[in-house]
Amino acid sequence: MNKGEPLLEVRGVSKRFGGLQALKDVDFSVAEGSIHAIIGPNGAGKSTFLNVLIGLIEPDQGSVTFAGEPIRGLKPYKIIQRGIARVFQTPQIFPGMSLLQNVAIAAVAKRDGQFNTKVLESLGPRHPIVDEAGDLLARVGLGDYLHAAAEHLSRGDKRRLELAVCLVAHPRLLLLDEPTAGMARHDTNRTIDLLKEISETGMTKVVIEHDMHVVFSLAERITVLAQGQVIATGRPEEIRGNPRVQEAYLGGAHAA
Ligand SMILES: Nc1ncnc2c1ncn2[C@@H]1O[C@H](COP(=O)(O)OP(=O)(O)OP(=O)(O)O)[C@@H](O)[C@H]1O
Ligand SMILES: [Mg+2]
Repeated sequence: MNKGEPLLEVRGVSKRFGGLQALKDVDFSVAEGSIHAIIGPNGAGKSTFLNVLIGLIEPDQGSVTFAGEPIRGLKPYKIIQRGIARVFQTPQIFPGMSLLQNVAIAAVAKRDGQFNTKVLESLGPRHPIVDEAGDLLARVGLGDYLHAAAEHLSRGDKRRLELAVCLVAHPRLLLLDEPTAGMARHDTNRTIDLLKEISETGMTKVVIEHDMHVVFSLAERITVLAQGQVIATGRPEEIRGNPRVQEAYLGGAHAA
């Protein structure tokens, strides 16, 4: 990758679901080390776009380049191994396992390229993977519940657990789909602080968010999607006053 080149570069991505054009000719580019928000009304195509980036959805057209290499068409686990991780809109965790096990198994999966609960059983309590899992859980504010079953967590805490699950893979690019959805204001503010803190380590982030307080607290650049198309990209102050953006929200069924 040459210096100054974006970490992630998407060109002309389109995706159709039957009669619905979910993404149309999307261009998107993220500088290394930055926080880039994607906003837009419900159904704009935001989650679909993240699914394309992580390899869960194959686009009909377009290219996706990460760290100078094409990644379109790679399987999700290959993309994860290249250094992209994703926090889903609905938390994806193992409900019957403890918090510590959830994070440790993600570290093992990244190391071995597959999920394997048997390997987990063989890790002793002092294993570096288990240590790191405990440290990360403390960082996201779950240090008091290491041995609790994940299913008993509140929705907001499940999101924090999922964040720890992603961070243990040390991604170069972290994709977050509505990381503060379902959280009370206090927890939202803690999540904002945490995301700022992890950006100090140079990790690049793309965050989909409906909460404008979160968007304007975090994002250095914002891309606005409406009906599958990019209608604006720019700095927060440029987006705030953009009449096309205001129109998209007012014209949408549910303004964010
Ligand atoms: N697998 C699928 N099959 C068919 N249609 C789909 C599929 N996934 C998404 N869609 C449709 O594509 C459009 C974009 O959906 P998407 O979930 O990407 O929107 P979004 O911007 O994330 O919305 P929200 O803000 O509500 O999460 C919607 O109309 C949705 O119903
Ligand atoms: Mg969505």
